[in-house]
Amino acid sequence: MPVGATKSLHRMKYGAYHIGAHEHLSPDQIEHLVTLFNRPTRSSELTLGGRTSVTIDEIEGVGPVVIKHYRRGGLVHFFVKQTYLRRGKTRCRLEYEMLDKVRRIGVGAPRPVAYASRGKLIYRCWLVTREVPSHKTLAALSMSDLNRAVYLIEPIVRAVDRLIQNRILHVDLHPGNVLVDPDDRTYLIDFDRAGSYRSGEKALRTRYVARWKRAVIKHRLPDVLWKEMQVRLLEKHTSGPQ
Ligand SMILES: Nc1ncnc2c1ncn2[C@@H]1O[C@H](COP(=O)(O)OP(=O)(O)O)[C@@H](O)[C@H]1O
Ligand SMILES: [Mg+2]
Repeated sequence: MPVGATKSLHRMKYGAYHIGAHEHLSPDQIEHLVTLFNRPTRSSELTLGGRTSVTIDEIEGVGPVVIKHYRRGGLVHFFVKQTYLRRGKTRCRLEYEMLDKVRRIGVGAPRPVAYASRGKLIYRCWLVTREVPSHKTLAALSMSDLNRAVYLIEPIVRAVDRLIQNRILHVDLHPGNVLVDPDDRTYLIDFDRAGSYRSGEKALRTRYVARWKRAVIKHRLPDVLWKEMQVRLLEKHTSGPQ
């Protein structure tokens, strides 16, 4: 298959679950995943750790995976919990497809393994990705080893630049949504609600910087994190025609 070509999705049904994946999943693997979808979860309360609950397990033949259970915040969450009113594709499928797309344009991001949903008009859904093992978020790293965190801003900016070139807006890019592995590879996560951006490139750069800076200040992370991001993404950038 040529580089960058889209591989077709396998769509599977298992009881009430609709599952999609690029790789074929065996009945045993699917059964294991469905058990994990139903395992009670706890939300992480860490700094910028996110509100979604995640489950980590090892699937035979796939490896360690992270399962993200989608939830909704605020009052509606109270009533609707993990269920959403469906409009077109499920959020899990959209995030799965976005991960696949950004990886194809060379952005470091976890490998999507599968997405699944249950229910039609009102549904629950799950995203399964390959675990980034022994990771820290950039937010956590900036508290324990600031030099290393600052050194990693450059590759992160390169990844964001790729998104910008492709007019992709990740609506929530902050240091809690960047994972760092023990070899200093960086992965952007949490592409929920990401999409294409129609306005100009400059506006998109400004938007990325603003979101990043707001999170750094709100969570009292070191200012150098947003300053470096701003300099590299805005000021050093010699913009061509918009
Ligand atoms: N592929 C992955 N590998 C390792 N950890 C992950 C992976 N995906 C998510 N996580 C963990 O789960 C947390 C929440 O995931 P995220 O996609 O940011 O959801 P949200 O912020 O919406 O709750 C992350 O901060 C990270 O700790
Ligand atoms: Mg997050």
